[in-house]
Amino acid sequence: MKDKEIVTRFRECKPEELSAEDRELLETAKEMTRNSYAPYSKFHVGAAIRMANGDIVKGSNQENAAYPSGTCAERTACYQASALYPGMPMKKIAIAAWTRLHQPEDAPEAACFQRSPISPCGACRQALLEYEAAYGPIEVILYGLDRTYIFPSIASLLPLCFTEF
Ligand code: THU
Repeated sequence: MKDKEIVTRFRECKPEELSAEDRELLETAKEMTRNSYAPYSKFHVGAAIRMANGDIVKGSNQENAAYPSGTCAERTACYQASALYPGMPMKKIAIAAWTRLHQPEDAPEAACFQRSPISPCGACRQALLEYEAAYGPIEVILYGLDRTYIFPSIASLLPLCFTEF
């Protein structure tokens, strides 16, 4: 028997340290939180994907009274990206989220973003992984008020991932 280790390497930065293009992507993800439909969770998530041709595809979480029918921001964005640009590599995805649930009533919107970066749920990681396996690495930019994280790929967020497709 052997002990093994899986190491995940990622970067921590401030948004100012990002390139102008990546800041634009992050700002788009933040803006998209406003288009979230989240009357049940009140947790507003935005995602923005930079396509290989430079275009940005946007998504936000869309909930439903039949709860499992709702969709996360990341899957809204990547399914939209694949539907609009079939076969085109997705180069980067930026994700941001806020909620007023634990904030004073009058807290300004900008202060309601999550302090720590929000990261995609398991189902979204798997959905993104399939596009990554087909078309190449998707860098992941996760926004938080205190810090921003950059992961080099979806697979780096999904150790021992299922790729038998
Ligand atoms: N949600 C996302 O859109 N992305 C994530 O990465 C995590 C969770 C949504 C799903 C649901 O609408 C709400 O946030 C609360 O879980």
